[in-house]
Amino acid sequence: MSTELSKRKRYRETKKGDRVKLQKLEQKHVRIADLDTDKPALETLGESGKIKMPKKRYYRQRAHSNPFSDHSLDYPTSPDDMDWTKLYPYYKTQDGKISKQVEIADIGCGFGGLTVALATQYPESLILGMEIRVQVSQYVEDRLLALRENSRVKGEYQNAAVIRANAMKFLPNFFKKGQLSKMFFCFPDPQFKQRKHKARIVTTTLLSEYAFVLKEGGIIYTITDVLDLHNWMVKHLDAHPLFERLDKDWEEKDDCVKIMTVSTEEGKKVSRNHGSKYIACYRRVADPEL
Ligand SMILES: C[S@@+](CC[C@H](N)C(=O)[O-])C[C@H]1O[C@@H](n2cnc3c(N)ncnc32)[C@H](O)[C@@H]1O
Repeated sequence: MSTELSKRKRYRETKKGDRVKLQKLEQKHVRIADLDTDKPALETLGESGKIKMPKKRYYRQRAHSNPFSDHSLDYPTSPDDMDWTKLYPYYKTQDGKISKQVEIADIGCGFGGLTVALATQYPESLILGMEIRVQVSQYVEDRLLALRENSRVKGEYQNAAVIRANAMKFLPNFFKKGQLSKMFFCFPDPQFKQRKHKARIVTTTLLSEYAFVLKEGGIIYTITDVLDLHNWMVKHLDAHPLFERLDKDWEEKDDCVKIMTVSTEEGKKVSRNHGSKYIACYRRVADPEL
């Protein structure tokens, strides 16, 4: 293993130790994945006495992960089997249940810029980032952990969490019918090659799953810098009977469109490179009468 690689690994192990330590201290920060290490937390606190924000460079991972492989991910057999209190311990009730349901999903959240921004914009809603890459999801987890700890007075970010999950598989195992009010697809992997189009995150079959978990009136937000992918998403969404496109006037007035345009890491990169951003938003319409 190269020195750089083992340095990154050591750093992540330390952060994992921090999570365990915090859990033991306060039962406040627990993750859905394993807590199998007793490693001491080496650098929980910075000089200011605050939790240090994680450094992105230690969590980098190759850009693409195969969405058809199962990645040994754990899924609840149904939404009722999901213990959300581990992700949102602040909302745990005395009888061990969760007092709110996840309402907003940031699909393929990457390094979590949008998830973090939505947390303060919608303090009353539970927000979930879903990310397939293990180290990237760990980065978001450590980022949220630091933000929660460092915002104790204000109590912010308790409403945001991340899970490592393949959003193309088993979404209805996590969410009940009509549970979500917003789903974000920000700068999804373009899957340029024709033979990879089936791996795109918007397809007719997947849209039916998204329609299932979205409530009537719920919104799908999409943004990309790749025109071909934008046209692909528009074509599939336009053709789906359970979605209707929202017009440019609506987009201009909507707060989330503004936030998703500026807050994601990928979006910032596109801005730095003076690239274009193509937006399309759709409302989930009522199920047809049978
Ligand atoms: C180009 S990045 C964009 C990240 C973020 N939305 C942003 O705008 O900065 C796409 C992300 O989606 C993740 N991803 C791709 N397929 C996924 C899937 N099936 N389930 C969950 N995440 C996925 C990738 O690992 C990657 O982090």
